[in-house]
Amino acid sequence: MKFFIDTADLAEIRDLAATGLVDGVTTNPSLVAKTGRDFLEVVREICALVPGPVSAEVTATEHAMMLAEGRKLAKLARNVAIKVPLTPDGLKTCRALANEGTMVNVTLCFSAAQALLAAKAGASFVSPFVGRLDDVGTDGMSLIRDIVQIYRNYPGLKTEVLVASIRHPIHVVEAAKLGAHVGTLPPSVLRQMFQHPLTDKGLAAFLADWAKTGQSILGETKAAAE
Ligand code: E4P
Repeated sequence: MKFFIDTADLAEIRDLAATGLVDGVTTNPSLVAKTGRDFLEVVREICALVPGPVSAEVTATEHAMMLAEGRKLAKLARNVAIKVPLTPDGLKTCRALANEGTMVNVTLCFSAAQALLAAKAGASFVSPFVGRLDDVGTDGMSLIRDIVQIYRNYPGLKTEVLVASIRHPIHVVEAAKLGAHVGTLPPSVLRQMFQHPLTDKGLAAFLADWAKTGQSILGETKAAAE
């Protein structure tokens, strides 16, 4: 499963990219607004930090303007994926950009029927929002199950299921069990995934026992080399 991070915060991206665990980045207009920075500049900088796909969302709602915005964003870097909303104009724009060889991420997907349309429109990614579905009392993860199953039935469909609106590590684990291709994780969720109290407890015990030996791994290496 690929891990994208769901933020437009450069400091967070720089910090997490250094772990070697980040395969891409997703942004949306709300995340960009939080930075208070120029959108194009932010996208350019993220693309330079992370070699994988970086989603940048159009804000027009009508096809011709969406296409113009998408083409402009696509010129920023070779790893930009244009995000379009799951509307008739969005999918028309998806088809046009995909035909030009541009990666497209179809966002705001809330049903399997919509996901099927996105795949037929040539999307590289479809983004079903699990957290927002959970918020309204439906099971977001069952949508992932349906989409993965449908796409598997048609190997000709190349769209990857990008699980979005992830709220906690269990969402990530469940999505991975279902075989989703990508999860886009808020930085806090990626950090939470490292945590387990038994890891901390075990490490403390190992280090305490090691200290009793009085040995140093690098010290021995140095002595052997001399
Ligand atoms: C990413 O592509 C989506 O825009 C994002 O995951 C939405 O997350 P939210 O529902 O927490 O705003």
